[in-house]
Amino acid sequence: MNAPQATPTLPDAQTVIEVQHYTDRLFSFKVTRPRTLRFRSGEFVMIGLLKEDGKPLLRAYSIASPAWDDELEFYSIKVQDGPLTSKLQHIKKGDQIILRPKPVGTLVHDALLPGKRIWLFATGTGIAPFASILREPQTYEDYEQIILTHTCREKNELAYGENLIQEIQNGGLMSELVGEDSLKKLIYYPTTTRDPSNQMGRITDLLKSGKLLKDLGIEGISEQTDRAMVCGSLGLNTDLKKILEGFGLKEGANSEPAHYVVEKAFVG
Ligand code: A2P
Repeated sequence: MNAPQATPTLPDAQTVIEVQHYTDRLFSFKVTRPRTLRFRSGEFVMIGLLKEDGKPLLRAYSIASPAWDDELEFYSIKVQDGPLTSKLQHIKKGDQIILRPKPVGTLVHDALLPGKRIWLFATGTGIAPFASILREPQTYEDYEQIILTHTCREKNELAYGENLIQEIQNGGLMSELVGEDSLKKLIYYPTTTRDPSNQMGRITDLLKSGKLLKDLGIEGISEQTDRAMVCGSLGLNTDLKKILEGFGLKEGANSEPAHYVVEKAFVG
């Protein structure tokens, strides 16, 4: 006699609360937070959907919401033939996704030594972990100056970051959490590489030419004062690492905090 077949149930299911589309390549969504999930702002988890064969298809996604939030936010690219995002882009309020509640990652305050200024260098969806870090009160307690650079190909791809900065700086909950004066520490520096905008160019070029520092009125980057977090494509991460090392900064980790940390943004 055959053993009875178990009805497939979605393991670690969370419910979609909200979906927002920005362009035909970018969207964000919020899901319920498991009551047992503890994470540090900047970390990532595995999320995904069930495949037709009933097996989960999971990818690493940075949590874009801060550690204190009741909901979990994610920011994603849509790749039309991407195994996960070709389907994930169609989720709606009330749908379920899989979320493995095992947060990890190096874009966390614990992996950096104390400093005066923190640089958050993002390209594309690499802004997601910094959306968490920028809504984390500790960021404003630990640093005198916080600089977010976000580089995208096109101007409309900056929308998620623009909304984020507006939400943080426009009086609401963040000013109650950290105080309005502390929010003045935050500087936003968006750039585009293929669309005309106020600030054009790859952040690596703008750093090497000295334009970024000149625009911000900063004399230099040094291991005494500056800390950095980098999140983008493999190429960006490699190139920026070289530049930061050239300024004398050393890469840190959870086990050995130092001056900068790097993580690859999810693609595909
Ligand atoms: P570019 O348009 O010059 O390639 P992508 O969508 O390919 O992930 O790129 C996101 C942004 O990151 C684009 O503006 C892109 O510029 C930029 N970028 C890609 N690779 C690098 C790199 N190695 N160094 C600096 N910026 C990069």
